[in-house]
Amino acid sequence: MMTDSNITRRSFISGGAALAVTASSVVGAPRAAERRLRMALVGTGARGSFTWGQDVVEGYSDVVEIVGLCDINSKRVEAAKKLIGTNAPSFVDFDRMIKETRPDTVMVTTVDATHARYIVRALELGCDVMTEKPFCTDEEQCVSILDAQKKSGKKVTVTFNARHDPEAKKIKGLLMEKAVGDVISVDFHEYLDTSHGADYFRRWHRLKQNSGTLLVHKASHHFDLANWWLDSAPVEVTAFGDLKFYGRNNSFRNTHCRVCPFTQQCKFYWDVTQNQSYVKLYVDCESEDGYLRDGCVWRADINIYDTMSVVVKYENGVLLNYTANTYLP
Ligand SMILES: NC(=O)c1ccc[n+]([C@@H]2O[C@H](COP(=O)([O-])OP(=O)(O)OC[C@H]3O[C@@H](n4cnc5c(N)ncnc54)[C@H](O)[C@@H]3O)[C@@H](O)[C@H]2O)c1
Repeated sequence: MMTDSNITRRSFISGGAALAVTASSVVGAPRAAERRLRMALVGTGARGSFTWGQDVVEGYSDVVEIVGLCDINSKRVEAAKKLIGTNAPSFVDFDRMIKETRPDTVMVTTVDATHARYIVRALELGCDVMTEKPFCTDEEQCVSILDAQKKSGKKVTVTFNARHDPEAKKIKGLLMEKAVGDVISVDFHEYLDTSHGADYFRRWHRLKQNSGTLLVHKASHHFDLANWWLDSAPVEVTAFGDLKFYGRNNSFRNTHCRVCPFTQQCKFYWDVTQNQSYVKLYVDCESEDGYLRDGCVWRADINIYDTMSVVVKYENGVLLNYTANTYLP
């Protein structure tokens, strides 16, 4: 899950797995409570099953116990349970999971626009929360989380794992050493290729109402990095986005690759059945919610951007130019 050797098993439970933890909190005396952290997880898709499921069971079972799994798709939650290799009970009712399993922490790995409702409810039910990025997808959700956190006094951690990439840490170190002097201007360009980039257009991310667009879903990693590197906060932002390549920009389309008559001519044909884990997690569970993991990248309902430009002015005067494109070679 994490490549950072400084993140120990103890730091997982002391601050949330993807937060930077100070040396004293890692090396210091053992925590008063030596029992394992009880973690319940909602959203048993790929991220929930592998990164926060399998990897936690394999690497952190001495300090973390998965006590419950929840998803709106009852088939997927059962498939996830097998893939993760846990005996934790499975649920489709979130409140019931919390009441029956009494977790210390809830890990939220659902579709982005649904994070807020689980974060708020978990706080109301007395749990700490760790959530996958993005925290949420709009201002109203953000305020509801901040209010619930304040009222509950519990902790919310957003797992911005990109900060733990060795390159990201190296850049931070060099900036702190002033190796490049004072930063005045930043160019940050995210070039996603037609494999990684296209994947967002196959499924729920393709709709603004689910992901908040890639300026939230994907770029939240990049804006988090920029804020951290620059040790400052944005004061003015101007952004543009357009759909120039995927979606309506093609002459043919279908619902998903498995039933498509254009497989010979479509450069984006993708056979999900080649991945057995994906067959178990998605294909075998389709009958319940119609979630097509190999959805067509040319669907006419796609309403997110594939071409994005942002200019940010920071509190400390730095100007940042950001672009993201999702169809590069
Ligand atoms: N940090 C990273 O680098 C990174 C990488 C991939 C995904 N993610 C994040 O992880 C989360 C999950 O992404 P994924 O790729 O696993 O998606 P996924 O589609 O594989 O899984 C999402 C799961 O949420 C479930 N779900 C949807 N609506 C729900 C609801 N209302 N209540 C309960 N469950 C619901 C779906 O049934 C599905 O099982 C997203 O927030 C995504 O942004 C982060």
